[in-house]
Amino acid sequence: MKVGFLGATRGMGRSLSRLMAARGDDVFLLGRDLADLERSARDLEARSGKGPVGAAPCDLERPGGFAAALDAAEARLGGLDAVVVTAGDFARQDELEQDVERARRLLEVDFTNTVVFCEHARKRLLARGGGTLVVFSSVAGERGRKPVILYGAAKAGLSRYLEGLDHKFRAQGLRTVCVKPGFVKTSMTDGLRPPPFAGDPDVVARVVLRAIDRGQPVVYAPPIWRSVMLVIRLLPRFVMRRIGF
Ligand SMILES: NC(=O)c1ccc[n+]([C@@H]2O[C@H](COP(=O)([O-])OP(=O)(O)OC[C@H]3O[C@@H](n4cnc5c(N)ncnc54)[C@H](OP(=O)(O)O)[C@@H]3O)[C@@H](O)[C@H]2O)c1
Repeated sequence: MKVGFLGATRGMGRSLSRLMAARGDDVFLLGRDLADLERSARDLEARSGKGPVGAAPCDLERPGGFAAALDAAEARLGGLDAVVVTAGDFARQDELEQDVERARRLLEVDFTNTVVFCEHARKRLLARGGGTLVVFSSVAGERGRKPVILYGAAKAGLSRYLEGLDHKFRAQGLRTVCVKPGFVKTSMTDGLRPPPFAGDPDVVARVVLRAIDRGQPVVYAPPIWRSVMLVIRLLPRFVMRRIGF
């Protein structure tokens, strides 16, 4: 599979890109720091034993560069079968409440610009008769929750967008995979107190790769979060107002 990958330098993206490279997928890296991308590229080459892994700059804060980044991936790989987006921004709710400009940036990166990037990817995949678009959203988008009001709102919008894509374009060959991680121990969650079901990025990557191969439209990872969120979605508002979850 020929894969354009935004966000492979750390966390769940690093784990997933390593699995893909190790099984023989051709991965092209997109990200905001060229030195980090080069390091990740060398790491993937060592794991795949194949030729050099290409990379191009792509910053989710700069939508003007999205088309060129995907063009570079297509040119290098000779087309794209899949585009994976694990890149995303996070900040604690109290920080975002105190700094409206920071909140604006997070909303822009996690919703508007991620959707714009996906629109560029969608057009390219459909032009070749279809493919797979894999995007990391979050369980945080499933209810309005006190600790993740703004981040969760952006992810809620992202999940709805991906659901709409799946409804409209699956018949034309576009397989949309919306990944909903629960709490996973990565640099994004450094310094936060892990809940009982905290996940490991390598475990998440295995679950997500299986979902990609099956073309599953929604995947919770680790899978226990499907049951956790089933309960949370059913809780009445007066309970949600009382609990800190
Ligand atoms: N960890 C969790 O508990 C959790 C839970 C639910 C959902 N998620 C979602 O899952 C995805 C992966 O999370 P993670 O925990 O693996 O994160 P992570 O370890 O913090 O890695 C984030 C990745 O996003 C990239 N990135 C951040 N801002 C970017 C920008 N403006 N432009 C381009 N790339 C950018 C980072 O690149 P650099 O190396 O350049 O910084 C890095 O590769 C995110 O969408 C996150 O919202 C995470």
